[in-house]
Amino acid sequence: MPAYEIEHHTYDVVVVGAGGSGLRATLGMAEQGLKTACVTKVFPTRSHTVAAQGGIAASLSNMGPDHWQWHMYDTVKGSDWLGDTDAMEYLAREAPKAVYELEHYGVPFSRTEEGKIYQRPFGGHTTEFGEGPPVQRTCAAADRTGHAMLHTLYGQSLKQKAQFYIEYFATDLIMSEDGQCQGVLAWKLDDGTLHAFNAKMVVLATGGYGRAYFSATSAHTCTGDGNGMVARAGLPLQDMEFVQFHPTGIYGAGCLITEGARGEGGYLTNSEGERFMERYAPTYKDLASRDVVSRCMTMEIREGRGVGANKDHIHLHLNHLPPETLNLRLPGISESAKIFAGVDVTKEPIPVLPTVHYNMGGIPTNYWGEVLDADAENPDRIAPGLMAVGEAACASVHGANRLGSNSLIDLVVFGRAAAIRAGQVVDPEAPNPVLNQASLDKAVERFDQFRNAAGAVPTADLRLEMQTTMQADAAVFRTDKTLAEGCQKMEAVAGRMADIKVSDRSLIWNSDLMETLELDNLMPNAMATIVSAEARKESRGAHAHEDYPDRDDKTWRKHSLAWVDGAKVRLDYRPVHTEPLTTKDEGGIDPKRIAPKARVY
Ligand code: FUM
Repeated sequence: MPAYEIEHHTYDVVVVGAGGSGLRATLGMAEQGLKTACVTKVFPTRSHTVAAQGGIAASLSNMGPDHWQWHMYDTVKGSDWLGDTDAMEYLAREAPKAVYELEHYGVPFSRTEEGKIYQRPFGGHTTEFGEGPPVQRTCAAADRTGHAMLHTLYGQSLKQKAQFYIEYFATDLIMSEDGQCQGVLAWKLDDGTLHAFNAKMVVLATGGYGRAYFSATSAHTCTGDGNGMVARAGLPLQDMEFVQFHPTGIYGAGCLITEGARGEGGYLTNSEGERFMERYAPTYKDLASRDVVSRCMTMEIREGRGVGANKDHIHLHLNHLPPETLNLRLPGISESAKIFAGVDVTKEPIPVLPTVHYNMGGIPTNYWGEVLDADAENPDRIAPGLMAVGEAACASVHGANRLGSNSLIDLVVFGRAAAIRAGQVVDPEAPNPVLNQASLDKAVERFDQFRNAAGAVPTADLRLEMQTTMQADAAVFRTDKTLAEGCQKMEAVAGRMADIKVSDRSLIWNSDLMETLELDNLMPNAMATIVSAEARKESRGAHAHEDYPDRDDKTWRKHSLAWVDGAKVRLDYRPVHTEPLTTKDEGGIDPKRIAPKARVY
């Protein structure tokens, strides 16, 4: 291996990733006077949060009665009783505070006539503990909410003097012999230099791994980089079998058409022009939760009632809505429909199909964002020096299925929580850890091996094999047969990483090497997903197993844990936290309200 010169940097906190959660964590850390760096492979305002459209959930009650306990109840039910109850209470309680903070930081929310933050209905969000009508809980900046948030949070972070390392690709965690995270190694893409970041706390905010699938609303940058680093550090990934399909990806292109479209009055039809959701979810219809709507669409297509020449998709109608509403509330998706489907939404329906959108699973954490190493004796044991937030993490507030607009609120509530916690546990006066040279050397060696990989399999070919396997065998509906075949195929695909071929040996703007490192991150995500899915013999949330159509709380109300080593996966489980944070006497929810029951909309 050639000698690489490494530039060293020392911080209290290093945040990896500059999407909504990474920026909120960075801002919170810097506000508290912690010396904070944010290392990001894309320019902050190009992070995938920029694509978040419909909004951010918080019980502000601007458009009618609402309560944090109703939000908590909806989240528990949406999760199909797999979320951690303490974390879900924390999310729903802190949400209004987190949104008002965003408002004060300068997020340009849409407004009501009275000047309050505008809120729209979203799937699965209800009143009266699921007994009342849908609630308008999703705070929106037209249909560009994520875009508005990113710009504001980046500006505020700069104001607080957080240091940004932009277009630096973090490749590996640096770990001490006894399992403490001490920093990361990163590759600066525009000049090819390597950088070791030494930190008292590393926060992974690297987003999801949608690109393990062939068709996803996720950006091409969503390659599960933090999850890959964690897997290589010998830590587990949690609940990876739960992959969300958004009901309305544009047919063919996969781009998102926000659920806000149905929130504003849009509806789905089949080839008979029928509003079929009325049959499946008589109360909430098109505003049932996402897993339910995606399954119903898939059933309509399977039963021959899809639209189009191949009867393989569904129509989303907005053409009955006033053009002024479309212009004011949904300008972004009106443009996307024109560009990617050639549709004028004022006149024609949009062709849509359930499309991979979100990963409920990720790096296990508590509700402060501290990573859990899930020790066999103590499943809540903390891995020192390491936090994870946002889609990379599994706190777990989404359990088996996330409600729309609970992602943006997850980003800011837990980005903020991580900063609060770091303020308590990181001592700015204490010395930084001495970096474990062996761990740093190992990370550099891995980088060099891929740079010089001279195998027979081009990265793009292997990536396509992985994506098509995941798309076919870990889909909306799964069976024992597809999952077993998927595991076998994925084991072979992951095994071929050893034979990967990188043609470009340079260090500057080497997209061949970059995509190979990203593929090496996607691979453990895909492996953990399919193996955890094959093992779970029930249906729950987004995991719809046709051979086990019912939820089985007795055996399966537990989190899956997957340790991935190359093409091998070891599984174990940890208990779901079933206790709320506060008792009824302390103003908390009545536990009877959130006891498991059948999930109908
Ligand atoms: O449909 C949407 O606007 C997506 C929102 C979300 O995933 O939370």
